[in-house]
Amino acid sequence: MERDIWLNKPYGEVIDYIMKNYHKYISNQLKDLSKLTTTIMRVHGLDHEELFEVHRLFHTIQINMVQHAIRQETRIFPVIKRYSIRPIEELLDKAIKEIKDYQGKEDNTVELLNKLEAITNNYTAPQDGCVTYDRTYELLKELHENIISHLEFEDEILFKRLLEEKK
Ligand SMILES: [Fe+2]
Repeated sequence: MERDIWLNKPYGEVIDYIMKNYHKYISNQLKDLSKLTTTIMRVHGLDHEELFEVHRLFHTIQINMVQHAIRQETRIFPVIKRYSIRPIEELLDKAIKEIKDYQGKEDNTVELLNKLEAITNNYTAPQDGCVTYDRTYELLKELHENIISHLEFEDEILFKRLLEEKK
């Protein structure tokens, strides 16, 4: 499994990878998709009422993911990086406390993605759509896959490893 190579990498490198592959992607894609889901709702909402729900689900996911990234970047990652440079018990405890706080506040993003997938018929744009409709659904599918892989990577590679250090 490709992820296995990450299990022995320094925490700083794991965090840089998350930032580059997931958080940066999220901040770029969310802005584009916000405009796109608004456009197709305006143009095709009359014939496809589900586009109002697509718009609502997407924007709730956007809020969740923006908060997710900011919480991790301001509260969790800096402590883990400090611990990685100076591996003392106090910093490990602090990192674990932040991780547990975060996990306790876990939002409903995965549930919302599943609803989005169902309502869009697995991100299949209708025949009477348009190029923008097709593109929006393609990007929503990509976003769905990226978020799932993002959350799994953080849980399995980063957080689990730190939590296990304490055992
Ligand atoms: Fe993240």
